[in-house]
Amino acid sequence: MKITVVGAGAVGATCADNIARKELAEELVLLDIKEGFAEGKAIDMMQTATLLGFDTKIKGVTNDYSQTAGSTVAIITSGLPRKPGMTREELIGINAGIVKGVAENILKYSPEAIIIVISNPMDTMTYLALKSLGLPKNRIIGMGGTLDSARFKYYLSVALNCNSNDLQGFVIGGHGDTTMIPLTRYATYQSLPVTELLDQAVLDKVAADTMVGGATLTGLLGTSAWYAPGAAGAALVESIVRDEKKLFTCCVALDGEYGQKDICLGVPVIVGRNGWEKVIDYKLNAEEQASFNKSADAVRAMNSVLHDMKLV
Ligand code: 2OP
Repeated sequence: MKITVVGAGAVGATCADNIARKELAEELVLLDIKEGFAEGKAIDMMQTATLLGFDTKIKGVTNDYSQTAGSTVAIITSGLPRKPGMTREELIGINAGIVKGVAENILKYSPEAIIIVISNPMDTMTYLALKSLGLPKNRIIGMGGTLDSARFKYYLSVALNCNSNDLQGFVIGGHGDTTMIPLTRYATYQSLPVTELLDQAVLDKVAADTMVGGATLTGLLGTSAWYAPGAAGAALVESIVRDEKKLFTCCVALDGEYGQKDICLGVPVIVGRNGWEKVIDYKLNAEEQASFNKSADAVRAMNSVLHDMKLV
């Protein structure tokens, strides 16, 4: 099995590192446009193999897509990350052209690949990949909600002073500071609804902190986060290659599910060997559905930029 990670920046390299440590493939290709950069990261990671005990062979290449041929999964992290004060949406003009080119090159050499999109603005980049590649929709997966749900569980674990692995919780909608929707009503601590364990004011703060989780880190780090985004990408790869059929929130093409169509937006899905295999229908109340529709409107407005740029 071969996996490709495009973009050897912090997110791509962290994703590759996680994939290698988990031995999700025999071969992992790390590709970057910057001369020698992916090669350097790959050699550095390979020098951890005897220390960490993994057998995955990591190969770095500069923009040579022929080396990615026959990949089962390709993860796209290319493009600029956001700087403090920037929204993910502001990246669209720069990243759209990059992501489209990368996706087309991947498909040229790996026609069967499942594509995971991490580049921002993630919902629009996923839609761009869906529209420009013409692949079956189950093979295009945007990572955002997987990361946002992990952040939600982190903030809940701090509020509850508990182990975050004992929590379940999902963030649906867009991967934007104002478009994501932490589904507090469905979050549980070992089957106990968190709404019975925390005051409304605390729950509201957890949701608000989750929504600006990425921006908070961008403010602290001076660039966008990488450990959790990279780990979220690798968790999706693991569910695909091991056919785990785990439930993640992913950005996927909706065709009437959750009341939306012709859009890629975050909803709970089963992820397995065929990509995202099924949408799980959590019943939303009127308020949650209104937030979801509002999120869809905002993402649709961003997607219209792709039409203006004649990219779809
Ligand atoms: C984040 O939220 C990179 O969009 C990613 O940190």
